Amino acid sequence: MAKTKKKPSTYLYPVPVVMVTCGIEKPNIITLAWVGTVSSDPPMVGIAVRKERHSHRLIEESGEFVVNIPGEELLEATDHCGQVSGRDTDKFAATGLTPEPASEVKAPLIAECHVNMECKVREKLELGAHDLFLGEVVAVHVDEEYVDDSGRRVDYGKVKPFVLTFAEYRGLSEPLAKYGFSVKR
Ligand SMILES: Cc1cc2nc3c(=O)[nH]c(=O)nc-3n(C[C@H](O)[C@H](O)[C@H](O)COP(=O)(O)O)c2cc1C
Repeated sequence: MAKTKKKPSTYLYPVPVVMVTCGIEKPNIITLAWVGTVSSDPPMVGIAVRKERHSHRLIEESGEFVVNIPGEELLEATDHCGQVSGRDTDKFAATGLTPEPASEVKAPLIAECHVNMECKVREKLELGAHDLFLGEVVAVHVDEEYVDDSGRRVDYGKVKPFVLTFAEYRGLSEPLAKYGFSVKR
């Protein structure tokens, strides 16, 4: 099949959709999709936030944030937190989401998200439109019912996270195979 050449741009999709909480006195929620795991030891995640975002200032000032993974039941709240600004909206009040105290950082967890990762900013890379905050994961919380039978892994089939494909949210399909199946690991 012939390929069509496009001008350089960000075509890396799907990407996970998360709600990041940040700020201390008036905590805020920002929806982000340009996020990823960047190191396992120490465990680190990267979040790309445009400089002009209200949340950018809150993260820069506090040096902390929490990555909260929403399930499909929180799709509308998640989209909403990516459409309005914490400059003029209390997004917890607007969405009905519940702030819950974290253990290692001052920003709250979102109680309704089944997985929460508390992070401390270790570095900020200025890349252009976005700054990449690299956060060390200093605590993780998982709702007990969402840990699988072995007690070691999160049952993401139950969490039902969703992804963004350019301008559309999509759910995850059924599992395709086990990790390492091609080498019978
Ligand atoms: C699905 C989705 C993904 C988004 N991903 C990002 C992102 O990765 N980085 C970013 O800076 N803004 C992203 N945004 C936009 C912000 O969430 C949006 O501008 C938000 O209103 C900023 O909130 P704040 O002003 O309270 O910080 C995304 C929005 C949506 C709906």
